[in-house]
Amino acid sequence: MKSPQQHLEERVLAAAGALLPPEAFAAATVKPCADPRHGDFQANVAMIAGKALGRPPRDVAAELAAALGEDAVAAAPQIAGPGFLNFTLKESYLDRAVAQARAEGRLGLDPVPAAAARRVVIDYGGPNIAKEMHVGHLRTHVLGAALARIHRFLGHHVVTDNHLGDWGTQFGKILSGYKEALAKDPAGTAAAMAEHPIGFLEELYQAFTEQAKTDPALDEAARRELAALQRGDAENLALWRQFVAATRAELDKIYARLDISFDETLGESAYNERLEPMVAELLSKGIARESEGATVVFFDGDAQLEDKPFLIRKSDGAFLYSTTDLATAQFRAERGVDAMIYVTDGRQQLHFQQVFATVRRWGILPECALEHAWFGAILGEDKKPLKTREGRPIKLRELLDEAESRALALITEKRPELPEARRREIARVVGLGALKYADLGQNRNLDYVFNWSKLLSFDGHTAPYLQNAYVRIRSIFRKGEVRPPAPETPVTLAEPAERALAKKLLALGETLRLAAAENRPHFLCIYLYELATAFHAFYEACPVLKAEEPARTSRLALCDLTAQALALGLELLGIGVLEEM
Ligand code: ARG
Repeated sequence: MKSPQQHLEERVLAAAGALLPPEAFAAATVKPCADPRHGDFQANVAMIAGKALGRPPRDVAAELAAALGEDAVAAAPQIAGPGFLNFTLKESYLDRAVAQARAEGRLGLDPVPAAAARRVVIDYGGPNIAKEMHVGHLRTHVLGAALARIHRFLGHHVVTDNHLGDWGTQFGKILSGYKEALAKDPAGTAAAMAEHPIGFLEELYQAFTEQAKTDPALDEAARRELAALQRGDAENLALWRQFVAATRAELDKIYARLDISFDETLGESAYNERLEPMVAELLSKGIARESEGATVVFFDGDAQLEDKPFLIRKSDGAFLYSTTDLATAQFRAERGVDAMIYVTDGRQQLHFQQVFATVRRWGILPECALEHAWFGAILGEDKKPLKTREGRPIKLRELLDEAESRALALITEKRPELPEARRREIARVVGLGALKYADLGQNRNLDYVFNWSKLLSFDGHTAPYLQNAYVRIRSIFRKGEVRPPAPETPVTLAEPAERALAKKLLALGETLRLAAAENRPHFLCIYLYELATAFHAFYEACPVLKAEEPARTSRLALCDLTAQALALGLELLGIGVLEEM
């Protein structure tokens, strides 16, 4: 079904089209009124057209209002201020729309028509091999997975790709360190690889880097090992495969806990064969140039990037992160893609500006939207990047453990009578949900200060607050020993608090479209918080189980639709709901 906003927008644009030249109102929109006392929706078409045509906007508004009149959805528009058209939804429409949203399922939100479905690659995650994930890896995974779910729910063809850092310079060092360890202590090395491979490889890497500070010959050895690997040397490749497999096994454990999965895990190494010919192509097309033995893309005539050359091959012949990202874009272009969304730390902004500018010059993706959905840092109370008390980065695994154990303590305090297994299950859903929401609820471009008690609070802009709102609705049905009314049940909403809640429910579609368009899941978080607040206001004002018919059934239907919206919204964020907590 169409949302009221979509319906009004179509009507307004059709009326404007009949009265005005199309170029006079191209930028016109219909938006929710900031102040509900003025109405539900507001159209700015008369002001835009008035300006374009040099006519008083209120005159244009009067003509449009007369042409529009009322319909089944909204009363005739009111002209307000300098020439806004304000619309108020009809009560009878709200009744029908709520009933229809329940009858259709999915909150009445149709997927985009097949012709409008876009092929969207969402590139997120991308941890580096042979390293454990730390707190800094949380945001890309949580944001990326939420964006993928939202785009997919809207009906787009989403491919999520985990662009593992599995081909970089660190492997030269790890290979050197590993070979040395193996020569010295074959049995101990094998045992360490079997027991704690990532920790062991990390130690090797760190020890090697430390030694190389005083022994420059080691760096030379590492470069040789890397070059051999990238050439396809059998021994190095076999070791590398072992490192990758061990790391992926660890990653998969964390992904299972976070409920994250990828359609593809290609990694930088997948593009090795492309690098050489691609650089040659960029050179021959004049997009890249040789400069002091290296190969570089210069952005002549680009005000922003003119003084920021993009190195794509070092003078020693080695390829870089930049080279693999260009090859990745080429590969995706060949397969067909309408949008690529990269979810990484804000410190990679320049890198992606350079990747995108190179891809544009190259011309391989003329129509594709290229978006860098970057994010800020997670800070400790001291406003510095979050660390353990001893000052080392917090492992992601530890962070998840702590979220669960803190939630378990809270739940145990609230519900000591529940069996332990049940408390643990609730703590898992609440703890990990709270952690994800803390990340998703913020504007991603901002740094945020991490605070356990805030994110686990049952009050405020948190996952437990929303999960609890869901539990409370479900408990109404349990307490009354009633099931949600049948999907087609007619609905009559008489009270202002009921109507306010219904209007909020009918705005979920716009929220999701906006969250997808700007890659900002926090729009959905804010929406869910407002929805829960509207529900509490309704529940304060209107008895449900004690109400007379037909209000009782209508209110039960409204409760049910609210529970569906909360569950759907949280699910899209990757957060679970519970029947009790
Ligand atoms: N491995 C990178 C890092 O750890 C992230 C990869 C992001 N994706 C990409 N196509 N560059 O920062």
